[in-house]
Amino acid sequence: MTGSSLAPMLDAGNQEERVRTQVGIIGAGPAGLLLSHLLHLGGVDSVVIEERSEDYVRQRVRAGVLENTTTDLLREVGLGERMDREGLVHGGISLRFDGADHRVDFEELVGRNVTVYGQQEVVKDLIAARNRDGGQLLFDVSDTAVHDIDTDRPRITFRDSAGQPRELLCDVIAGCDGFHGVSRKSVPHEAYDHAYPFAWLGILAKAAPTREELAYTYHERGFALYSMRSPEITRLYLQVAPDENLDEWPDDRVWAELHTRMAVDGESPVLEGPLLDKGITAMRSFVAAPMRHGRLFLAGDAAHIVPPTGAKGMNLAVADVRLLSQALTELLRRNDSRLVESYSDTALQRVWRAEAFSWSMTSMLHIRPGADAFQRQVQLAQLRYTAGSRAALTSIAENYVGLPW
Ligand code: FAD
Ligand code: DHB
Repeated sequence: MTGSSLAPMLDAGNQEERVRTQVGIIGAGPAGLLLSHLLHLGGVDSVVIEERSEDYVRQRVRAGVLENTTTDLLREVGLGERMDREGLVHGGISLRFDGADHRVDFEELVGRNVTVYGQQEVVKDLIAARNRDGGQLLFDVSDTAVHDIDTDRPRITFRDSAGQPRELLCDVIAGCDGFHGVSRKSVPHEAYDHAYPFAWLGILAKAAPTREELAYTYHERGFALYSMRSPEITRLYLQVAPDENLDEWPDDRVWAELHTRMAVDGESPVLEGPLLDKGITAMRSFVAAPMRHGRLFLAGDAAHIVPPTGAKGMNLAVADVRLLSQALTELLRRNDSRLVESYSDTALQRVWRAEAFSWSMTSMLHIRPGADAFQRQVQLAQLRYTAGSRAALTSIAENYVGLPW
């Protein structure tokens, strides 16, 4: 494999600026940024291109729960310092139903924990690390397209932030461009798709959490989730209709619904405060297989989506790029393609496990529109069995904190 040069080459013919790198990464979400960082540690060059602005990427409010496997990895690769200072370590979660909290004690059941640390904080740490190490991150690009992925000289074309046409000549392309990106659409794949008849309305509020841990609440009016970001910020979610219009959810209605669904004996754990963010997230399960075509590799949401109930999305993105960085380093530094050949199959094993866990948590905790009394009793029976069975609690705990790589 040839080394790479980041020096721009001007193509005299069409005035298109060409840059050569080993790995062209599309997307500066957690997957793309972490892949770039891990490749750098392995001595492999990369360039990351991102269609959004840097401000937008740094502020986008999304995931909050890091598996133990994820925090271990972030520490190992020098990204644990602020996370360990500011992240909230949680030794368990609660399932809230039948008017009571039922704790899933991770520490006691599996001897591990999770860390609540916002995805945008991970992203900020990654951007800082890439900037510190001289990484190339190009924001505000447009018209991204991939070419020649069946050859060993694939290319990415795009327009830079000034609208100028650019070309990235690569050894390999990593499609880390999320569910709506261009990478997956550029390759043949089998799509496994499942839609849910509900969505989540999420708010971020400047209000001190009154609970120390997350509560996943089953209520006849619909699921609700109590989470947090810091000792001053609460993160709360409500199950709503899939086509819900945010305008129909003024703040008063959101608070009233949260109180109703989360109250136990008339006592609500929810403390109100000014809203910092409000949005609706669709729920979907999706897997694209294989996660590789020629010299294009998919990672993270570009290849798979889970409903958020199991808190698995960002953690799966991290697991993918951990594998992919090892595989690409072996290929590009030692000309050894074995890990590259097995990347898709290995990654998909963890993906399908997370799909199964996220689907089962979602099914157990949400009210399907039109669900009859029988279906609700089955859900309650499952919840009551889970809360009373060490085997069932251990299964939730080991999946939630992250199965070993
Ligand atoms: P993304 O974060 O989507 O990044 C892809 C990037 O590619 C984006 O920046 C996008 O702008 C860019 N891009 C797209 N197209 C192009 C293009 N053509 N050219 C250049 N760039 C492009 N996961 C968890 O693990 N735990 C949780 O608690 C959790 N909670 C969640 C709550 C909510 C409300 C939501 C919405 C998601 C949650 N997730 C959670 C899922 C998690 O946020 C995603 O799985 C994660 O962002 C995936 O990272 P990614 O890098 O693969 O994709
Ligand atoms: C959060 C999001 C999730 O999807 C989840 O399962 C738990 C917590 C959060 O944003 O805090």
